[in-house]
Amino acid sequence: ANPSILILAGDGIGPEVMAEVKKIISWYGDKRGLVFDVSEDLVGGAAYDVHGKPLADETMAKAQEVDAVLLGAVGGPKYDNLDFSVKPERGLLRLRKEMDLFSNLRPAQCFDALADFSSLKKDVVAGLDIMIVRELTSGVYFGTPRGIFEENGERVGINTQRYTESEIERVARSAFELAKRRGNKVCSMEKANVMESGILWREVVQRIHDEEYPEVELSHMYADNGAMQLVRWPKQFDVIVTDNLFGDILSDCAAMLTGSLGMLPSASLGAPMENGRPKAMYEPVHGSAPDIAGQGKANPIACILSFAMALRYSFDQGDEATRLEKAIEKVLADGVRTADLMGPEGGTAVSTVEMGAKIIE
Ligand code: NAI
Ligand code: MG
Repeated sequence: ANPSILILAGDGIGPEVMAEVKKIISWYGDKRGLVFDVSEDLVGGAAYDVHGKPLADETMAKAQEVDAVLLGAVGGPKYDNLDFSVKPERGLLRLRKEMDLFSNLRPAQCFDALADFSSLKKDVVAGLDIMIVRELTSGVYFGTPRGIFEENGERVGINTQRYTESEIERVARSAFELAKRRGNKVCSMEKANVMESGILWREVVQRIHDEEYPEVELSHMYADNGAMQLVRWPKQFDVIVTDNLFGDILSDCAAMLTGSLGMLPSASLGAPMENGRPKAMYEPVHGSAPDIAGQGKANPIACILSFAMALRYSFDQGDEATRLEKAIEKVLADGVRTADLMGPEGGTAVSTVEMGAKIIE
């Protein structure tokens, strides 16, 4: 059977950028003999409009069966006042939770043609290629007790950072596996100096390294120093593995080393399925961009790079992923720019569709 993909384009610019990805998927079938079984369904506000909830049960079931889910973006002003339980974002959270996507991959990659775009000096970011692996399903966002309680006549807000050994083990393995396919280096970040969960994190990552991946170079860093080092000299890193909270912050920071939100892909991976492929969802980091939705201005590259990650991590097509990334690099080097990639000197921006066409060309 052909590998299967479920496309959930979602809201706002989601369907606009996903339309370009669909053309690229067809191109792979026509030109490279790489045929995918593609199905499509609704998520977010688009699903709410039809089903009264942001992800139908049938859609959830389909997502569990396919080899990879590609998601556009969800949300928008039309849905801002909905009850929390049916908000578009809940559709996304349900997918992540029920597929148990514990390993969130956020690359920070700098295309040379965009190095001027970074807020850092050009030589600090040119050629940058690092990968942040963020634990996504546990930690302080989920630990209990949590809530706002009365205590001694005032209120206290409580969240609990909590990690089990097996939760640390599986995300550590995911980082070491990645490193083997990249620069063979992992830096683990926590705050073992002040947090018990950090002490356990460091110990377990070190043990998984020693027992299973001794050939990978492992270092440890306190997360606050890590934030500093990321901005000072990011090229010292290859793969960074960290918990949910630190990963949230560090990955946003690393991402912005490289320029526009319209350029940033992500992958969320879970445990291997029966066919050996990991449960997986790929999505751009950006949202539904209501301010530019419907205008044909959105940059499709983040979504296209997310599909490149799918080629690499779900379908074992690393060479084809590289082909796609090289095409994007070429188009950018030729000076083709969507509006979000225009500097203050201006110029003529291309549309979403034109950018997609240039990449295929
Ligand atoms: P956003 O990422 O949608 O937009 C932030 C800014 O970046 C906007 O000015 C937008 O025009 C620009 N931008 C984003 N993607 C772009 C692209 N591909 N090309 C060109 N410009 C791009 O974040 P915002 O405005 O905070 O949220 C808008 C809606 O999206 C909200 O409803 C929010 O909840 C939702 N959202 C959804 C996410 C998801 O589906 N994963 C993630 C973040 C926000
Ligand atoms: Mg964040």
